[in-house]
Amino acid sequence: MTVRDILKMGDPRLLRVAQPVTQFDADELHLLITDMLDSMRAANGAGLAAPQIGVDIQVVIFGSNERNSRYPDAPIVPKTVLLNPVITPLGQSEHDATVLEVEDWEGCLSVPGLRAMVPRFSRIRYTGFDQYGDPIDRTVEGFHARVVQHECDHLMGVLYPMRVRDFSRFGFTEVLFPGLDTPQDD
Ligand code: NI
Repeated sequence: MTVRDILKMGDPRLLRVAQPVTQFDADELHLLITDMLDSMRAANGAGLAAPQIGVDIQVVIFGSNERNSRYPDAPIVPKTVLLNPVITPLGQSEHDATVLEVEDWEGCLSVPGLRAMVPRFSRIRYTGFDQYGDPIDRTVEGFHARVVQHECDHLMGVLYPMRVRDFSRFGFTEVLFPGLDTPQDD
């Protein structure tokens, strides 16, 4: 188990556009993903992208099979390893092509101690591959869609504060949510 240091906002490595994975099911890739899973678990994160530990390739992980104490009210998102992701915003249903955005609170392990209301597409399709090269193709909404968009933004060098529109709803977690039981590092 190797818990890696998570880069914080201001580090230029968080602003790079990550390179696609070209070799699946490789030892180096499996080691990276093990380290990312260990690091996410240690930080109690909802997700983690490879650039957050300084690795410039298109790998994100998110979800867990149990509830997250940083997001106690959030629905469970299945534990997922996603490589080379592509996100397509979707309409609300087969009969309603209107693409909606919704705002909700987000935090980030690279922006410790802060939360903001961030607009995201409410319903998306995402495709990509797992670490063995098997395809992933899911249509999701709500918190699941939000987590995927947040993590995939890291692959484009985008941190959630860059998406904030209403800065009156951007602040310190301990001030915004005084009752929330959060670990020291966020
Ligand atoms: Ni993040």
